[in-house]
Amino acid sequence: METSPNTPTHAGRVVLVTGACGGIGAAIARRYVQAGAAVCLVDRDAAAGEALAARLRQEGGQVHFAQADVGNFEQCQAACDTAQSTLGPVDTVINNAGISPKRQGLPVPIWQMEPAEWRQVVDVNLNSVFHFTRLLAPGMVERRYGRIVSMSSVAGKAYLDIVAAHYSTTKAALIGLTRHLAGELGPHGITVNALAPGRIDTPMVAGAPQAANDAVTAVTPLRRLGTPNEVADACLFLTSDQAGFITGQVIDVAGGWLMT
Ligand SMILES: NC(=O)c1ccc[n+]([C@@H]2O[C@H](COP(=O)([O-])OP(=O)(O)OC[C@H]3O[C@@H](n4cnc5c(N)ncnc54)[C@H](O)[C@@H]3O)[C@@H](O)[C@H]2O)c1
Repeated sequence: METSPNTPTHAGRVVLVTGACGGIGAAIARRYVQAGAAVCLVDRDAAAGEALAARLRQEGGQVHFAQADVGNFEQCQAACDTAQSTLGPVDTVINNAGISPKRQGLPVPIWQMEPAEWRQVVDVNLNSVFHFTRLLAPGMVERRYGRIVSMSSVAGKAYLDIVAAHYSTTKAALIGLTRHLAGELGPHGITVNALAPGRIDTPMVAGAPQAANDAVTAVTPLRRLGTPNEVADACLFLTSDQAGFITGQVIDVAGGWLMT
């Protein structure tokens, strides 16, 4: 579809963003609102979700907030149901929710990791993507159109001593899942891609010791942290008509860090 430079690039689209109240998620949600999409915010934090939804509505957006723990299938199902009854069929899913538990700002060694913590990270970072794909892919297949982007990380592609094993494992698994889904869903008109951010200036990173951020900046060719808007812009591109022939890819948004 041809668009003029002034046409909102996602007008008419219905986008569901998970982890929408965090640094990157909120930037993504706002960018979609600015691009003319209706947006369903999904987050476990009800107060932050309602507040963000109210702000985005004031900015002119058609926005719905659905509280859910993305690691819980039934709660994801309820979120999808209210999103679709409020906004219409979801055609774009941004699997952004993710956690990276630390102790005193440091990653937990594998020999001290509690099984419950391992399972929680797998639920939130990985199983959530199965949940939303399982729930929303049927409608996409039926309508022969869909866009799915999952938030991996450079930590899913290379060893980093600043994250723990559960985090890097789930981020690597998302890359495998992205490639599989791209193959399986491509014949139905659905593209599936992943983003691999480097160090982005968000609350997740603000909790880390300053030295950890400085160390990353020193080995990042662009010599700074990334911004949430820079991740959001890559996300909007991957789900735009201009990216209609891109699928199964993992795009680093990392200032050249690692170049994996
Ligand atoms: N910030 C970075 O440097 C960086 C780098 C690489 C990848 N990422 C990835 O980008 C994504 C967003 O990161 P961020 O920095 O914005 O994180 P953030 O901590 O700022 O936000 C995460 C959001 O997810 C929500 N959330 C957490 N658990 C949830 C659950 N069980 N159900 C529903 N919502 C839940 C939180 O309430 C929060 O709003 C994550 O997947 C993260 O792993 C971040």
